[in-house]
Amino acid sequence: MSIENRKKEHIEIALSPESQGPLTTLFEDVVLVHNAIPDVSYDEIDVSINFLGHKLNAPLIISGMTGGTEKAFEINRRLAELAEEFRIAIGVGSQRAMIENPSLLYTYKVVRDIAKSVPVIANIGFAQLKKIGIDQIEGMVSAIEANALAIHLNPAQELVQVEGDKDFRGVLDILKELASKLSVPLIIKEVGNGLSKEVAEKLYSIGIKIFDVAGAGGTNWVKIELLRGLKSGADMTRFGEVFTAWGIPTAASICEVRSVAEDITVIGSGGIRSGLDIAKAISLGADLAAAAQPFLKSVAMGRGREYVNTILRQLKTAMALVNSKNIEELKHAPTVVLGRLAQWICSRKLRLRNNHIYIHCCY
Ligand SMILES: Cc1cc2nc3c(=O)[nH]c(=O)nc-3n(C[C@H](O)[C@H](O)[C@H](O)COP(=O)(O)O)c2cc1C
Repeated sequence: MSIENRKKEHIEIALSPESQGPLTTLFEDVVLVHNAIPDVSYDEIDVSINFLGHKLNAPLIISGMTGGTEKAFEINRRLAELAEEFRIAIGVGSQRAMIENPSLLYTYKVVRDIAKSVPVIANIGFAQLKKIGIDQIEGMVSAIEANALAIHLNPAQELVQVEGDKDFRGVLDILKELASKLSVPLIIKEVGNGLSKEVAEKLYSIGIKIFDVAGAGGTNWVKIELLRGLKSGADMTRFGEVFTAWGIPTAASICEVRSVAEDITVIGSGGIRSGLDIAKAISLGADLAAAAQPFLKSVAMGRGREYVNTILRQLKTAMALVNSKNIEELKHAPTVVLGRLAQWICSRKLRLRNNHIYIHCCY
């Protein structure tokens, strides 16, 4: 199947409820402790942060999703308008299609053309790295004037995808060379199965400083590929169904990655759906959050602005209720961790690096 048709199917399935879950993010096990006498004015709550040398008006990224088709051009245009209006960062989808066919550059470049004043993030999959040289990667980044390059790690998706690339050897060496030579920072991201402490440690040791956890609980690429397989008549469900609940839930993945070091930027993503999710992600150790599917869905319905306004209002409301005037204060808001997330953190002996998180490790 052509990349174009694959992209089309990905978008169609990602918009359906079957593309989500069945795991949860485990944010349901995170409780921000209510403060009945907050000493803040809602209108003065400041949710701005610095990211990639830019001031963002909110701690939020529109995750990389698409490019390479006429429909993708239109989606990227609308997403870029949102990013520019709200001053939030934005990623493009995998640029593989434009490497194979340079005339498709415009479907990605539209993001930079519209989102002129915010960080734009280039994107390529780790499976592609072996097939292209550093010069080509540098060209791909500069063609859209990106401020960073996200490399997505998606082994689970590749393994269940009919046409997936299943040889993952040697990626760390390529990443090491890229991290030292590329003119922009590298961001390592998953796509919905999460990053572990061990993976983040390895990546940190070769110079990676920005991690987008993209944990489980939101868009599920194993499910999406199985649904695609079903549609094309290749019944992979019997083989793949057991992996639909595979992955590290987002809240756990944030704790895993944050435990590695202080001097890294952690992006909490995978199933971020509300401003309260963003607040919980930040209180657990993320510096900012990202989301993909909700932006796709809301721009498809012409409700992008409404969605962003709603989640920002939710974020600020949560911050008022934990007496936080800004994002730095939110990072220290008293937080209780319960249930399965507490079990996860305790059994993995994760160092949470701060003392505002209350967790009872007696399992
Ligand atoms: C339609 C669609 C296409 C995507 N394509 C890419 C991609 O090309 N590169 C990438 O790194 N991630 C891609 N993703 C994954 C997202 O960036 C994100 O990590 C993942 O969907 C989890 O976030 P969510 O639960 O908010 O959707 C895609 C997601 C969606 C919904």
